[in-house]
Amino acid sequence: MRPISGPDDWPGETRADGRALKPGESSVPSVFEDLIRAWDGDEVAIHYDHPSDTWMFVCIHSTKRGPADGGTRMGVYETPADGLADAMRLAEGMTLKMAAADIPFGGAKGVIAASALPEGDERRRLLLGYADLAASLGDNFHTAPDMNTTAADMDVIAERHRHVFCRSVDRGGSGDPGRFTARGVFHGIRASAARVFGSADLAGTRVLVQGVGSVGARLADHLAEAGATVFVADADAERALSIAQRIGADVVSPETALELECDIYAPCAVGATLNAQSIPRLRCRIVAGSANNQLADPEDADRLDRAGILYAPDYVINAGGVIGSWGTESLAWDADTIEARLAGIGESLTEIYERAEAEGSSTGAAAERLARARLDAA
Ligand code: PHE
Repeated sequence: MRPISGPDDWPGETRADGRALKPGESSVPSVFEDLIRAWDGDEVAIHYDHPSDTWMFVCIHSTKRGPADGGTRMGVYETPADGLADAMRLAEGMTLKMAAADIPFGGAKGVIAASALPEGDERRRLLLGYADLAASLGDNFHTAPDMNTTAADMDVIAERHRHVFCRSVDRGGSGDPGRFTARGVFHGIRASAARVFGSADLAGTRVLVQGVGSVGARLADHLAEAGATVFVADADAERALSIAQRIGADVVSPETALELECDIYAPCAVGATLNAQSIPRLRCRIVAGSANNQLADPEDADRLDRAGILYAPDYVINAGGVIGSWGTESLAWDADTIEARLAGIGESLTEIYERAEAEGSSTGAAAERLARARLDAA
């Protein structure tokens, strides 16, 4: 096989890791090889679609607490290895999310890394190829929508894979999980406000919603309804404007959004917006949003703590999609039960905040201890 990275004719007789070269082998270990070797997850499945140069990855991080479940994301990545690395990090986040919410699933994630987001027949063709990859993992892998995928996409995957949450409602699924996720984040924001400001009442509170896609837009609705002063930012300026007009919010440019003086910053789009460079620029008291993998590095939880900013651990506050779709489809929960469980996200956060204080640690570390203890007990 041709190496993924490095020229084929790379000179030298040993690889960068010191092992003697096999005939025809590059001296540069492939990035895929390094990533997979360094990962502590269970399994990586890969499908390459030659005609479109699309890479598809399913990463199963853990099945310790049950079959691995995680969304399928579509994206345009700089390199295929970036897509794989994203799937790996997100899969681990799903393991922690399931454990923290005490849901009997392990963690996984699928990533479809395309050169452009596909549409129409091409999208269907790629999704069916992805569905075969998912089906090859059998009962071990369950999936659902994630960034850039929809309930309609789940309908297509379900043509060939048995374990798909959030198909369209008219196909017997629970539909787009964004409404559940947004509701859970809303409860999480209220609990965080209660912790910092002494009241869960959001009237007059300044909240920045960064990313107004399927979750962020609905969160903005809930916040506006609760009387918050909402600011929205989105890479898609038109989308930002239309949501802002709908709820009477202000649009902030994505470049300067992080520096906005506000009470609460809700990252609801891509991950890693919290890092060594961005944290000193923040002018909020609380970070509480729906994005997965918000911290570039686990240490960023300490950085936020030291900056006096309360951080709602992402996989705790954003578990609403999993809770709502699983409850609806597998447990036949009614709307009141689901709402009570989504409100439970606020209670879990309060408990984590109390533990962090008692243990003198960051909220990120306290959440991770809770999730890991559940994993160890499994
Ligand atoms: N995007 C959702 C998440 O990250 C994916 C999901 C929804 C997974 C529902 C399972 C069930 O939580």
